[in-house]
Amino acid sequence: MSMDGRTCVITGSAKGIGRGIAEYLGQEGANVVINYRSSEGAAHEAIDAIESAGGSAVAARADVSDRAEVEHMVEVCHEAFGPADVLVNNAGITADKQFTEMSREEWDRVMDVNLGGVFNCTQLFYDDIWNADEGRLINISSVVGKQGNFGQANYAAAKSGMFGFTRTIALELAQGGSTANCVAPGFTATDMVEGVPDKVLDRIIAGIPLERLATVEDIAAVVRFLASEDSSYVTGEVIDVNGGMDL
Ligand code: NAI
Repeated sequence: MSMDGRTCVITGSAKGIGRGIAEYLGQEGANVVINYRSSEGAAHEAIDAIESAGGSAVAARADVSDRAEVEHMVEVCHEAFGPADVLVNNAGITADKQFTEMSREEWDRVMDVNLGGVFNCTQLFYDDIWNADEGRLINISSVVGKQGNFGQANYAAAKSGMFGFTRTIALELAQGGSTANCVAPGFTATDMVEGVPDKVLDRIIAGIPLERLATVEDIAAVVRFLASEDSSYVTGEVIDVNGGMDL
């Protein structure tokens, strides 16, 4: 199996894309740390799914925007499996509002989780990734970080910010032989998209050459490639997984 014995931490992985990534990597033989903020039940369901496929997983509660809680997650990972080989910064939130109506609190909340969380987790797992044999940092950005999206100035700014962050960390990690890359999913069928009105969703799908939303498996398969040794010579890249939205 391509991920045999590799320890992978996936933030926000009790549900949605993170859960899809966790299950995919777990089925490929990885030791998986399921991070959750409030969805304890869903985190345990994810662990059951991985264990019944023959993999190993542990749950770690932490709000990624809280540094002390991320320190605790590092301890949970080390106690269960030792140092991490792969960190997937997946946890993310939206707080949509047309810009003129957006409060500073809505701006800060999205920045704190979507970029502050990336800062905390990357810094606190940095030594693990640096020292790993083929360490991997994978940041889940968004097509919105490239294209912008009406009502998402805060989210688009945070997701764009991940590109510069990833390229810089890719340079800093390179001497240790580890890599950093971004995945930029298009619209994916999860809770995050569930709030989008049907009329808007129909318009979005009409603009996707492959004529459908992404599934979590579509995203997880690309993350698996980046997490594995198959991607040894790929670093500082943004891989779009968006059904051709920008064609
Ligand atoms: P989701 O809302 O279904 O899942 C996000 C997960 O992150 C949830 O389990 C949530 O509890 C967790 N989370 C939120 N804040 C957290 C915090 N402070 N600490 C720890 N965990 C936290 O969303 P989805 O769709 O699975 O999104 C996953 C990632 O993919 C996000 O970064 C999102 O921005 C990105 N993305 C999603 C797209 C979509 O269309 N669904 C498209 C492009 C990117």
